[in-house]
Amino acid sequence: MRAVLVRPPNPGVELGEAPTPSLASGAVRVRVLECGVCGTDHDIVRGKYGTAPSGSPDLILGHENLGEVLEVGAGVVGWSPGDLVVATVRRGCGRCRFCRTNRSDFCETGLFTERGIGGAHGYMAEQYVDLPEYLVKVPPALRLVAVLLEPLSVVEKAIFQGQRVLDRKEPTPGEPKTGTPSALVAGTGAIGMLAALTLAVRGYSVTAIDRHGEDTPAAQLLARIGAGHANVGGGMAPLGDRKFDLVIEATGSVSLDFTLIDRLASNGVLVLTGIPDAEGPLLPVSGGALLRDVVLGNQAIVGSVNANRTYFEAGLRDLTVFEERWPGAVGGLISTRAPLESYRAVLTERSGGTIKTVLAVTPGGATGAP
Ligand code: BGC
Repeated sequence: MRAVLVRPPNPGVELGEAPTPSLASGAVRVRVLECGVCGTDHDIVRGKYGTAPSGSPDLILGHENLGEVLEVGAGVVGWSPGDLVVATVRRGCGRCRFCRTNRSDFCETGLFTERGIGGAHGYMAEQYVDLPEYLVKVPPALRLVAVLLEPLSVVEKAIFQGQRVLDRKEPTPGEPKTGTPSALVAGTGAIGMLAALTLAVRGYSVTAIDRHGEDTPAAQLLARIGAGHANVGGGMAPLGDRKFDLVIEATGSVSLDFTLIDRLASNGVLVLTGIPDAEGPLLPVSGGALLRDVVLGNQAIVGSVNANRTYFEAGLRDLTVFEERWPGAVGGLISTRAPLESYRAVLTERSGGTIKTVLAVTPGGATGAP
């Protein structure tokens, strides 16, 4: 079968041939319709991240996925050919208490694998085979947006973690609530935009920052959902002296991460989701001033990675809510559905102003258009 192959830690990417996986009993065979492309894929193609499965020189790339069931193995119940499906990414170590209870996103041994990223083949191939426990069934009504479910699961987890910290501020009996909580989203790629949508439906007053003006699809979408937008390409001045209860970072920029600490309100929480370059430049930071404020303000900085299937299920519910509240808006996050043959350009060039590029592994991807 055709597959997009990488050879970490070497840079580069090829469209090549890989063996079609065999179907064991208890497993499901899926035809891949489309895969989203994200910063992690770019990092793997640049040779900065990722590992091939043990014993294989190549890794089949791709972790944001949508497919259609082709065939079910003996003993599989609840799945039929034609069902739409999104697969989770991480496969647990089988040892720690988290992996043994379907929460491999909190794996403590580090011995997990991630399909399309580390130690296990991904989904940028004509087919894959996996166990039902890793597959999330997608209602047909969400077909055109379901490729966003994997990044949305990451967002769902990050916001849930942030909310748990904010819940330290329990309501005070007899006192009115303090009003609408405020959220700052840093970055207007797919993760940032999905965070803005999710926080808006959770009742936050949302502001998103990036380095673009008001004429991008992201800025227009933010206006549509009632979120603020500020271009901080020239510094944070457009935010004035505003502080926020919850800050969701979705850029991976280390210098921005430090700047965001300064934007936390008292008792606020900063959740980092972008994965910084570990070999980036050393930064001069006024550590004392920064951390003093964190302590004196009861603030928290939380990292959040990956997502277990409960967050995929939460994401499915939210995709439905987004579609009800702002019809067509979430589909607007998919800037391009590119044919598989354009894999090299899509995986090596980053085009500014686009939100999510999707590779149509089956011609037409989820649209089925030729
Ligand atoms: C993926 C996560 C993964 C993380 C770290 C992200 O791009 O969405 O599933 O855990 O990279 O490898």
